[in-house]
Amino acid sequence: MDKVVTCVAPVNIAVIKYWGKRDEHLILPLNDSVSLTLDCDQMHTKTSIIAGPFITEDCVWLNGQIMSIERNERLKKCFDLIRNLIKIQKGENSQEVKWKIRVCSENNFPTAAGLASSAAGYACLVYTLANAFGLVNGDLPSIARQGSGSACRSIYGGFVQWTAGVDDQGYDSTAVQIAADTHWPEMRIIILVVNDSKKKTSSTVGMKQAVKTSELLKYRIQKCVPERTKEIIQAITDKNFEKFAEITMRDSNQFHAICLDTYPPCVYLNQVSHEIISFVHDYNEATGQIKVSYTFYAGPNAFLFIQQIDLSLFMSELVNVFPTMQPNSSYLRGIVSTLPNNV
Ligand code: ADP
Ligand code: DP6
Ligand code: CO
Repeated sequence: MDKVVTCVAPVNIAVIKYWGKRDEHLILPLNDSVSLTLDCDQMHTKTSIIAGPFITEDCVWLNGQIMSIERNERLKKCFDLIRNLIKIQKGENSQEVKWKIRVCSENNFPTAAGLASSAAGYACLVYTLANAFGLVNGDLPSIARQGSGSACRSIYGGFVQWTAGVDDQGYDSTAVQIAADTHWPEMRIIILVVNDSKKKTSSTVGMKQAVKTSELLKYRIQKCVPERTKEIIQAITDKNFEKFAEITMRDSNQFHAICLDTYPPCVYLNQVSHEIISFVHDYNEATGQIKVSYTFYAGPNAFLFIQQIDLSLFMSELVNVFPTMQPNSSYLRGIVSTLPNNV
C-alpha cells in the first residue's frame, strides 16, 4: 500500500435500543435493535490508514492521542479479524498479512458523550481497513460489532436492523438494511446537545450492570422488544410517522427506566432532557397528532424525529422555549443544535 486510504462513517440513532449482552467477548446482544444512519455531512468519524513493510508497529491515534492496542481487547480483535480476512482472501503467505498498520481517526463531535462515537468510530475503522486491503465480501458488520455493538449498524445507510441471532459464536448476529436512505426522504433528525462532556458510566459498563441487576430488563427482552421490532419495521415500511414516533418514544423511555432499575442506578438524563421530553409531548398534544418524537442515548442529549413539512413550525416553537439554542439547519437529514448545560 503506497498511499493513505481515508473513509468517513456516520453515527446511527437507535430507535429500538440495544442494551444488554449475552456474550461480552463476542459482543452478542440480548435483543434485536433498529436504527437510522445519518448522512456523512454532520456527525461522523474520519479514519485514515496506511500499512506496509515500512511501518514498524500497529498503532491507532484517536483525536490526536495514541490508543494502546495491547490494552484494548476490542481494537485488537478488529485487527485480528481483518488479518484473518486478508489470509482467507489473499492467501496464507501473502505479504499483506505481515504488514503493520497505522490508523489515524478523528470524530468531528464529542467522544464518549452519549452521541454514539463508538458506533461511527468502529464502523469507520473496519470499513477503512477493508478498503485499504481491498477486501471484498467479508461480513464487515460482524467485525465492527466486535469493536462496539452499535457499530455494526453504521456499516449500512438508511434504516438498519441488528438481529441478535441465537448462535453461540454469533454467526447470525449481524446488521441488515431494512430500507435505503432514500426510502423516507421527508424524515429529519434534530440533535440537541445538552451536555457534551464524557459520560460517567460508559455504555459497556452500564449495560453489564443492567444485565446483572435489572428485573425490568428481562421483561423488556421477553415481552416488549420482539413485538416492537416487528411494529417499527412495519411503520418504517409504511412510512407511518405516528406509529414510528410512538414506538421510538416508548422504547427510549423504557431504556432509561431500565437504567434507573439498575443497581446502583445509571442516571443519563438530566433536567434539560426531561424538559425536552415534556416539550415534545405538549407540542404533540397541542397539535392533536404525533408530529415529533424523541430518543435519548446513554447521555442527556436528545435526538428528535420530525417530517420536513412540520419542521419550520416546530423549530420556531423550540427556539422560543429554548432560546439559547443555535440550530444549524444546513444538515440534509439532521440539524445539530446546542443547548447550554444549565443543570
Ligand atoms: P459513545 O456514546 O460516544 O458511543 P461509548 O462509551 O460507547 O460512548 O464509547 C466510547 C469509546 O469508543 C471511546 O472511549 C473509544 O474507546 C471508542 N471510540 C470512539 N471513537 C472512536 C474512533 N474513532 N476510533 C476508535 N475507537 C473509538
Ligand atoms: C444506548 O454499542 O456503545 O447507544 O457494545 O459495549 O460498545 P458496546 O456498547 P455500545 O452501546 C450502545 C447503547 C445505546 C443503544 C444503541 O445504540 O442501540
Ligand atoms: Co457507544
